[in-house]
Amino acid sequence: ASERIPLVAGNWKMNFDHLEATYFVQKLAWLLRDAHFDFRRVEVALFPSFTSLRSVEVLVEADKLKIRYGAQSVSVTNQGAFTGDISADMIAHLGCSYVIIGHSERRKYHPEDDANIVDQVRAVLAADMRPILCVGESFEERRQGIELDFAVGQVHDVTRDLNEDEASRLLIAYEPVWAIGTGMVATPESAQYAAQAIRDDLRTTFNDRVADTVRILYGGSVSSRNAVELIGEPDVDGFLIGGAALDVDELAKICRLTE
Ligand code: G3P
Repeated sequence: ASERIPLVAGNWKMNFDHLEATYFVQKLAWLLRDAHFDFRRVEVALFPSFTSLRSVEVLVEADKLKIRYGAQSVSVTNQGAFTGDISADMIAHLGCSYVIIGHSERRKYHPEDDANIVDQVRAVLAADMRPILCVGESFEERRQGIELDFAVGQVHDVTRDLNEDEASRLLIAYEPVWAIGTGMVATPESAQYAAQAIRDDLRTTFNDRVADTVRILYGGSVSSRNAVELIGEPDVDGFLIGGAALDVDELAKICRLTE
């Protein structure tokens, strides 16, 4: 078995204002405490909107919660005349551990290409946080049978510009686009194939240390009905969850099933 500690990550996307966010975090903490959840065995992280991060930080600090949190995107520049952007330092100063980068919704609705994604990864690393790089094929690539090449290619396009130390601090989320929000979850076997192919590529590009350190999450219609089988796969090191992370009882259940 691997030494990698699984991560259950809840991506709230554009849901919850700061009041709903704090209520959710309190309730999740309470449910997990009640279940004697062991945060040393499974890490839990939530990804609220930028507008909720400060409220979440205050709550986590006041109650000394073990729940981590992060942002859903970041600007590639650190300060200056960039109206509407949020820098990595600003996010880091709110106590964030992680930043999601290159989610398919960002790639689709914003001009985020590989070069921009590499710059985001660098900005996050420079601010001492960890990037969660999202990759995954659409239905079309799956239909053509090129899904593994596609997902591995997306990882490779970013990692080829990183050095070994940078790469070792990365997390990768394999999220097939056709599985996001559709209820069509990847089979455990295909999640494993993809995670393994990505890990093999890290081994070739870098070395065993990087390949065995980087956590690879699965995302796409994860729920309490499929979490156990997915986490049973050797190269799946946790989840990036959308819809099911908006229901606190369901998320608490997934955390416990991952333990
Ligand atoms: O980032 C998580 C995500 O895109 C998956 O969403 O709703 O299918 O769990 P969902």
